[in-house]
Amino acid sequence: MKNLNISIAGLGNVGSAVVNVIEDNSSYWEKKTNLSLNIIGLSAKNINQERSFDIKKYKWVETPIDLLNINDLKPDILIELIGYEKDISYDLVKSALNNKIHVVTGNKAMLALHGQELFKIAEKNKVSLLFEAAVAGGIPIIKTLKNNIFLNKIKKISGILNGTTNYILTTMELQNKSFNDVLEDAKQKGFTSDHESKLDIGGYDAAHKLTLLSSIAYGGEIDFNLNEIEGIQNITIEDINFVKQLGFRIKLISETRVIDNKIYSSTKPKLISLDKPLANANNALNAINIVTDQLQNLYLEGEGAGGLPTASSILSDVFEIANNVDVRSIGYNTDQLTRYEKFDSSNIESKFYLRIRVIDQSGVLSKITSYLNEYNISVEKILQIPDSKENNIPILITTHKIKTSELLNSVKKIGELEFVDQNISIIPIE
Ligand code: HSE
Repeated sequence: MKNLNISIAGLGNVGSAVVNVIEDNSSYWEKKTNLSLNIIGLSAKNINQERSFDIKKYKWVETPIDLLNINDLKPDILIELIGYEKDISYDLVKSALNNKIHVVTGNKAMLALHGQELFKIAEKNKVSLLFEAAVAGGIPIIKTLKNNIFLNKIKKISGILNGTTNYILTTMELQNKSFNDVLEDAKQKGFTSDHESKLDIGGYDAAHKLTLLSSIAYGGEIDFNLNEIEGIQNITIEDINFVKQLGFRIKLISETRVIDNKIYSSTKPKLISLDKPLANANNALNAINIVTDQLQNLYLEGEGAGGLPTASSILSDVFEIANNVDVRSIGYNTDQLTRYEKFDSSNIESKFYLRIRVIDQSGVLSKITSYLNEYNISVEKILQIPDSKENNIPILITTHKIKTSELLNSVKKIGELEFVDQNISIIPIE
């Protein structure tokens, strides 16, 4: 029987689920794997909070750093689920690694911003810093990239990496509600808080996760500054309904590729064709497409957040440590990582959706199409929606592939026309 001593910092949804799953499964795991997990210490903000397990059964410490030495006993693994970008999360993880304690964390913000340093410290001390739970909740994306398809050449990773924004976009469509109304609902129901929702809605949470995926996929140094980020705060219910008429759904898509030896990592709203699985990964689901030299498309979909799914990923890392898999936490030795430059996104080619509101009078359409023509932008579809009640009406356009910079130049000119409302929606089509 292999016994591992574990300390857990942070007992929110995920931390509590980890304790519950260990309590419920210990005898099953002992039979299945000869592995026995022993929780030697817990710490969280408030000992008195109501919890799904009996806190009195465990040794409680007020200061998380004390989890690294419980009555002179050092844990084999520290599970960090406090989730701060720096502060106590970073101090605790760094101390644990320096004390040769393995760390398992779900903290994507900390790793996206300080991972470069922390992975080096782990390597120097010959311990693991594992983070399956940091990306896409219960989906085993890190181990898929790091183990199963490590010998593939990754061409592109793209998908939905944030559950909250996916829930908001889905609910806007289903209930025909505005972004602000749905966000308020989500906050009242406790799905997201003020601080968390800024990271979720602004696209930062997804970009933190993409930073980690990109590093493993392309052997790059962890560098959050490589990301281009746009959130969903400007998506209107009007656009959600219009794009549906054109056969699309709007999703917050994170994508990473290497182009000309540079990294292109972007998180932004995109139109996905309704016949693609990604368009139908709704509510809080996460979903990821991976294209490699050997796999035309590997599609993974599942619960991207929540206690039990994320606990599943935490415990997969505990199991990896129990099996003494080597300590290359991100698949590479850190001195093998490449420092990539950022690809200039104005050179990216894409199809685009445009929604232009105009005054309904003769000559408008021909003026708009002449500006598109001037920049060699070829229209794929065009739709004018009549509205007898409004004095300005929407024209919806989808284009063929065009360089982003050229599209933006042409839209700038169109926006200057006197009969055009300057608020033009521009969303790339995946
Ligand atoms: N805030 C995250 C999300 C939780 O909504 O996906 C899981 O990382």
